[in-house]
Amino acid sequence: NKVLILHGPNLNLLGTRQPEIYGSETLNDINNALYEKAAVNGWDIKALQSNHEGVLIDAIHAAREDGTAAIVINPAAYTHTSVAILDALNAFEGKVIEVHLSNVHKRESFRHHSYVSLRADGVIAGLGSQGYLAALDAVIRAAERA
Ligand code: DQA
Repeated sequence: NKVLILHGPNLNLLGTRQPEIYGSETLNDINNALYEKAAVNGWDIKALQSNHEGVLIDAIHAAREDGTAAIVINPAAYTHTSVAILDALNAFEGKVIEVHLSNVHKRESFRHHSYVSLRADGVIAGLGSQGYLAALDAVIRAAERA
């Protein structure tokens, strides 16, 4: 059982980037918590961060071929701009959960629209790093029910 965790642009700066909005945890902290939760449940995780749209798209394509059951994605600013990431996710047949650290609906109006939400099976926003763990939990539970 495999899950791909994708982090979009600027999320490599977590911990120092607007901590009042995004929290003080680093991306490594978040990934480590996910690896731990996955391991306990017998799941394999691959986590990838990129500042480049095409790298994220290539990773989604690879997930179509390697038996990945689900993608947990924080597309960051590409959420609001990327038809290309939406199209790539539409070509992926597993579960897709969209995560945002901040509550995007409480912020600027350009953050209220998400292309990725047109594909996502679930969307979590505003729970900080806990949102990723909740997403992974949902993926694991759904697989147990299937
Ligand atoms: C974000 C919200 C986006 O609007 C923003 O561009 C980000 C991070 C979040 O996790 O809250 O980079 O996806």
